[in-house]
Amino acid sequence: MAGYETGFRDLTEEVRDRDLPVEGNVPAWLDGSLYRNGPARWTVGDAEADHWFDGLAHLTKFAFDGGAVRYTNRFPRTDAYRAAVEDGSFAGQFSSTDGYLSRVKSMLAGDSTDNANVHVARIGGELVALTETPNWLRIDPETLERRGTLDYDDDLTTHHVTAHLRQDPDSGANWGYFTRFGRRNEYVLFRIPEGTTRRERVGSVRVEKPAYMHSFALTADHAVLVEPPLVTHPTKFLLPGAGGFIDNYDWEPSRGTRFLLFGRDSGELVRETTVPAFFTFHTANAFERERNDAAELVVDLVAYDDDSAVTDLSMNALRGGGAGFPSGELRRYRLPLDGEEPAHESLADGVEMPRFSPERHTREYEHVFAQSTEMDGGNALVRVDVGGDGGGERGVARRWEESGIFSGEPIFVPHPEGDAEADGVVLSLCLDTEAERSVLVVLDGDLTELARAPLPHAVPFGFHGEYFRD
Ligand code: CO
Repeated sequence: MAGYETGFRDLTEEVRDRDLPVEGNVPAWLDGSLYRNGPARWTVGDAEADHWFDGLAHLTKFAFDGGAVRYTNRFPRTDAYRAAVEDGSFAGQFSSTDGYLSRVKSMLAGDSTDNANVHVARIGGELVALTETPNWLRIDPETLERRGTLDYDDDLTTHHVTAHLRQDPDSGANWGYFTRFGRRNEYVLFRIPEGTTRRERVGSVRVEKPAYMHSFALTADHAVLVEPPLVTHPTKFLLPGAGGFIDNYDWEPSRGTRFLLFGRDSGELVRETTVPAFFTFHTANAFERERNDAAELVVDLVAYDDDSAVTDLSMNALRGGGAGFPSGELRRYRLPLDGEEPAHESLADGVEMPRFSPERHTREYEHVFAQSTEMDGGNALVRVDVGGDGGGERGVARRWEESGIFSGEPIFVPHPEGDAEADGVVLSLCLDTEAERSVLVVLDGDLTELARAPLPHAVPFGFHGEYFRD
């Protein structure tokens, strides 16, 4: 895709609280801040990070106030940043042979990086930058500078942890899971009560060969782990010459993909369902419902046929323009809670980064917002309508695209007094490859553009973000 490589160029400029020029009208009710995270620098001198996911963490903030947009960006001065930029080397944090998940390998050796470049959350009243090791960073919400690592008010030992927490809409608790390696490998489900930094152990399941998992799903009654057959045996990490973390994972499709359903109240593994193998990074929403007099649990997620979505993201491939965004199928899995066979259906092709209204989390819902890769020279944003079991239309219902623009993750912000699910705005940090700079795009829930605000520079393609009301 032409221009695509622009999204992998190092950024070095940092600005603070800068007024962005706004074309169009940003709704005045939008009065909070959007924070985003992602890798934005891969080279220092001759040293180069090997995998896209290994770039230095870079945070952006867009503060909305009365239709104005103020922008701040910062590389938090982490140990990883200092080692790379001040010592002129990525050595010790990344290596040319160890990939993205080498962080976990380092952790098993007692030395893991603090390059928290995946996501953001609010934990214990603070803004936190997240990665897939437990080294999460407390971040100053104004300057985006590192305040320190997050101290957990518990004594849990964790190795690999999801950076995709799910906030319970009722209690405000952040739910997650981690994998603990050892003589006994286990997946552990936890929750962090609102206002605390305490990970409470909810339940666990022992596994012989842990899988690489990236996100999970929460419903009103269950927490659902989706376990693809990309598996390892942790003793492999400890062998000399075993390579990067991800190299120790094997795709074993004959195992199938398992859904592990935990009761939220009991913490017990109440159901286990195996379906033909697929890989996934991201779930969308999930919920229970009654359908045809039977109870089922619905999980929407982006599925891939195999693990190539993980292995195709080397910097060499991306900077050469030879690879594409991972492009999966938005799929709905219907898991009966009464012993019937599971089923799935396709909702849309060629999408990633699914988001939905936080007000519909854990409930039946109508709209998924996602990136779409079905165009040349850019990425569209789409709204996939996923209701319609009652006979309505399903599939891609709305679309926003512009030549030369690659869109970022579409974050939906509901109108505080809105009625309809789509009453709100979609915020997406996009890359204008012709102008070689990024632009924050504000769309309504029908993906009609309301406003855009060009940035002073190009922010490389990032991962995830959240909007927080002030
Ligand atoms: Co993710």
